[in-house]
Amino acid sequence: MSLILENKVLAPSIHEFLMEAPEIARKAEPGQFVVLRINEKGERIPLTIADYDRGEGTVTIVFQEVGKTTGQLGQLKAGDKISNLIGPLGRPSPLIEGGTVVCIGGGLGIAPIYPIAASLKAKGNRVISIIGARNRELLIWEERMRKVSAELRITTDDGSSGRQGFVSDELRDLMDKGNKIDLVFAIGPVVMMRAVCEVTRPGKLRTLVSLNPIMVDATGMCGCCRVSVGKETKFACVDGPDFDGHKVNFEELIARQRIYLKEEKIAVERCSRRAE
Ligand code: FAD
Ligand code: FES
Ligand code: MG
Repeated sequence: MSLILENKVLAPSIHEFLMEAPEIARKAEPGQFVVLRINEKGERIPLTIADYDRGEGTVTIVFQEVGKTTGQLGQLKAGDKISNLIGPLGRPSPLIEGGTVVCIGGGLGIAPIYPIAASLKAKGNRVISIIGARNRELLIWEERMRKVSAELRITTDDGSSGRQGFVSDELRDLMDKGNKIDLVFAIGPVVMMRAVCEVTRPGKLRTLVSLNPIMVDATGMCGCCRVSVGKETKFACVDGPDFDGHKVNFEELIARQRIYLKEEKIAVERCSRRAE
């Protein structure tokens, strides 16, 4: 059993949970994730470790209610317990030292890019962050990102905060101005990561992306999280989740993420019928 210490609502349907998890906090590194199950009958879902405190023995996860399990999770309160929380899973992000790194977080991707940006800063890199969301209300963790960035740039689709446009537009401007950049790290919706990779591809600017295919066991056995990277087949749960964005087959990833849409819709309907 794992205890929820805090459920903070960051924006409509976006929650920040502080979880008691000393074993996970002790070993967690930026880029890794947990898999949780709400109860004995619950499905397993992966969520990124957005922050951790080894001293307090806590981990922070940030999630959006998009379906049955995240919807149920959002209903839980401080003091409630979930059946299982396992981790840290996946490989820690490969980080460089003493360079200039652009950290890009789109939507929910802002939370998982935070520990990466913080760690890059601690390793003596100059961190330029670009965070973006549909609108100001959905822009999360702005202050946290400001603290770990030498420069913070903001974009919103509707212009309600920062520049009107996409994070990839801001990146293009940054590159056009001749800024020397050693690495770009992008996390967010797949279409956003793909757009970022198209901006960096012509100049062969190294770009890492964090992939989020459907995962079940998250230990490399079921094959569900299969992704194509270059000519190789990789399992995102054990080989990633970070990969060289210029080699990722994003079209296949998008198609595989949508495989169970019909079943996911039925699960939500059954769940809300039961709650009536
Ligand atoms: P459903 O209605 O079941 O699914 C909605 C969509 O979510 C699906 O169409 C599918 O694309 C995706 N999804 C469903 N089941 C899974 C699954 N078992 N594994 C992965 N994706 C699934 N979301 C966050 O909000 N915050 C995070 O920090 C975060 N980190 C992630 C890290 C990794 C490594 C991965 C692989 C995914 C991460 N996700 C994160 C996505 C999150 O796991 C899904 O949003 C969640 O599983 C949806 O469950 P659901 O039952 O509420 O929705
Ligand atoms: Fe089963 Fe990765 S989730 S192999
Ligand atoms: Mg589900």
